[in-house]
Amino acid sequence: MKILVTGGAGYIGSHTCVELLNAGYEVVILDNLYNSCEKAVETIEELSGTKIPFYNVDLLDYDATEKVFEEHKIDSVIHFAGLKAVGESTRIPLKYYHNNITGTLNLVDIMQKHGVYNLVFSSSATVYGMPKTVPITEDFPTSTTNPYGSTKLMIENILKDVYAADNKWSITLLRYFNPIGAHKSGKMGEDPKGIPNNLLPYVAQVAVGKLDCIHVFGNDYPTPDGTGVRDYIHVVDLALGHVKAIEKKTGETGVHIYNLGTGNGYSVLDVIHSFEKACGKKLPYKIEARRPGDIAQCYADASKAAAELDWQATRDIAEMCEDSWRWQSTHPNGFNS
Ligand code: NAD
Ligand code: UFG
Repeated sequence: MKILVTGGAGYIGSHTCVELLNAGYEVVILDNLYNSCEKAVETIEELSGTKIPFYNVDLLDYDATEKVFEEHKIDSVIHFAGLKAVGESTRIPLKYYHNNITGTLNLVDIMQKHGVYNLVFSSSATVYGMPKTVPITEDFPTSTTNPYGSTKLMIENILKDVYAADNKWSITLLRYFNPIGAHKSGKMGEDPKGIPNNLLPYVAQVAVGKLDCIHVFGNDYPTPDGTGVRDYIHVVDLALGHVKAIEKKTGETGVHIYNLGTGNGYSVLDVIHSFEKACGKKLPYKIEARRPGDIAQCYADASKAAAELDWQATRDIAEMCEDSWRWQSTHPNGFNS
C-alpha cells in the first residue's frame, strides 16, 4: 500500500515516515521544505534503509501536486503539510489561511479526481479552544483562539462537508496534544527555525547552551504547582498512532476523530525537572507573566483511540526528555549540525 505523506520532511511527518516504512508501507513524500530540509528525507532513508520518492513541491502549486498522483498510484494520504506557529499566525493570518486551507483544498480536489478517498489529517488539540474541564474527549465543543487554530477547525469542517457530499471518503482527523521527543537513534528530531516558541525545544536549547534561561509563563494557574499543564506525547508514539489509523481506518468510510495524547498532564516545572535529569545539569529558569491566550490545563482522554485504533502511548516523560536530549546534544544546530 502506497501512502503519500505531505509535510513528510517535517518534525512529525519524518518520524511517521520511518514508522510507516518499518511497518511495510510504501511512502512518497511531498514537502516544499518551507520549515524543513532535504537532510530529513535522507535521514528517513538512512533509518529505514529504503529509497523514498521525494517531491519538493508546494501544495499551492496544483499542477505539480497533481503530477505526484499521475506518477504514483496512491492508496492513502497523510496530510501534515501546513504552517503551525500560533504567534506568527496572529501577525500574518492571510498567509496561514492561504497556505493551510488552499493547500488542503488543492490536495482534496486532486485526490477526488484520482479516486483516492483515504485521508488522515493532522489536527490539533487547539480545536478545543479553552476547554472547561479536563481530560478532553473528542465530543467536547470546538472553538479557536488564533488564526492557526482556525485553519485546523475550518479544515476539519471542510472535510466533514466533503464526506457528507460523497460517502466514499474515509477521513480520519487526528487531534494531537503536545508532541516532543525524538527518534531513539539521535539522528532525527525537531529542528525549529529561529528561537523556539514551544516549551520543549526552548528548554533543550537552554540545556545545550544556545539560550540563556527558560521563561516560565506564569505560576499562578490553578494547577498543582501553579504552572501550565499539558499532555506531552513522544513523537514516535504519535507516529505509531498514524500507522494504526492507516491500518484500522483505510477504506472504512466516514469521518473518524481521535485524540492522540497520553492522558497524563505534566506541568512546565515537571518538564524542566525531567529534562534536568536527562541532561545531567541544573537549568536556569525565571517565572514570568502568563502568556496571553494560554490555558491552565490541557490533557486528553485518549480512550477512544485505545478502543478503536488499538493504540496507546507507551513512552513516559523521562524517555521523551532523554530522546530529545540525545538529538539536541548531538545536533545543536539541528540537521545542519
Ligand atoms: P513541521 O513544520 O515540522 O512540518 C510541516 C511540514 O509541512 C514542513 O516540512 C513544511 O515545510 C511543510 N509544508 C508547509 N506548508 C506546505 C505547503 N504549502 N506545501 C508543501 N509542504 C508544506 O510541523 P510538525 O510539527 O511536523 O507538524 C505537522 C502537522 O501537525 C502540522 O499540520 C501541524 O499543524 C500539526 N500539529 C503540530 C503540532 C505540534 O505541536 N508540532 C500539534 C498539533 C498539530
Ligand atoms: N511555556 C513556557 N515557556 C516557554 C514556552 C512555553 O512556560 O518558553 C509554557 C506554556 O505557557 C504552556 C506550556 O509551556 O503552559 C506548553 O507551551 P507550548 O508552547 O509548548 O505548547 P502549547 O500547549 O501552548 O501549544 C502547542 C502547539 C499548538 C497546539 C497545542 C496542542 O504550539 O499549536 O500544543 O496540540 F495546538
